Amino acid sequence: MVTIPTVPLRDGVAFPQLGLGTYNLRGAEGVDAIVSATAVGYRLLDSAVNYENEREVGEAVRRSDVDRDELIVTTKVPGRDHGYQETLDSAAGSLERLGLDRIDLYLIHWPNPITDRYVEAWTALIEAQQRGLVRSIGVCNFLPEHLDRLQRETGVLPAVNQVELHPYFPQAEQLAYDAGHGILTESWSPLGRGNDLLNNPTVVRVAETVGATPGQVVLAWHLARGAVPVPKAASDARQIENLGALDVTLTPGDVEAITALGRPDGRLHGLDPATYEEF
Ligand SMILES: NC(=O)c1ccc[n+]([C@@H]2O[C@H](COP(=O)([O-])OP(=O)(O)OC[C@H]3O[C@@H](n4cnc5c(N)ncnc54)[C@H](OP(=O)(O)O)[C@@H]3O)[C@@H](O)[C@H]2O)c1
Repeated sequence: MVTIPTVPLRDGVAFPQLGLGTYNLRGAEGVDAIVSATAVGYRLLDSAVNYENEREVGEAVRRSDVDRDELIVTTKVPGRDHGYQETLDSAAGSLERLGLDRIDLYLIHWPNPITDRYVEAWTALIEAQQRGLVRSIGVCNFLPEHLDRLQRETGVLPAVNQVELHPYFPQAEQLAYDAGHGILTESWSPLGRGNDLLNNPTVVRVAETVGATPGQVVLAWHLARGAVPVPKAASDARQIENLGALDVTLTPGDVEAITALGRPDGRLHGLDPATYEEF
């Protein structure tokens, strides 16, 4: 079993440098995959109301041999539940589906700035943390303007901002903003969700040079830039392969070459948090 190193969040929690994405891990197979991930070393599990797998994640936590307190169970409030009371009710629903007495990391899934109720949702996350229902609080897909507003209106910044981040969309400015404000950046779709990224000639060349797989090289690129990737992998073979990224050292030149793969339209599905709304 691999011991994943941690980085400190602004609230003092020791946070694993790499986690498991659980989008599409559902049913009995999903539970098995998540239990297997904890057996090989994963401690950070990334779920959401909208993945419709909180029951599976909770079941896996109970079936795992890993101590509950070592696991960081993440879930996310969906856009349809933004609002103060709505978000507190949403947290209660997530706790019930998870079958746990605490959410370790609770995130706002999208800012939905046109609907514009994310500050109210954030106020509820602060309250849920004070009540001990959730340990760390954070956001996903927040742009600097949304984070500035949270700071201005509540005085509390998120511990984590989980954003789309992969070599085709390297997010240098968002990473710098988050780091400058003591916010840890998590990368979603860190492997490009099965697109051509792992066959990209630059990625393949670096992989051959360092003696690693393309997936490991891409994940090592995230680590080198200070982001925590949450790759989803159903099989224990790929889960173990992805943990191997922790042993891969890239040169600054390798990191630069992979960052240079970025494209202005590099978002996988064109989901721009300034305009996209998800409920
Ligand atoms: N906050 C948000 O708005 C947001 C949005 C999207 C995703 N997320 C989170 O981020 C997580 C990860 O993103 P994602 O699931 O979209 O995509 P991803 O992790 O980039 O890619 C997952 C795909 O890559 C495959 N894969 C995994 N390891 C591999 C390897 N070593 N070599 C080759 N292929 C490999 C997986 O296949 P198999 O599983 O079949 O092995 C799966 O098809 C999600 O699961 C979710 O938890 C958050």
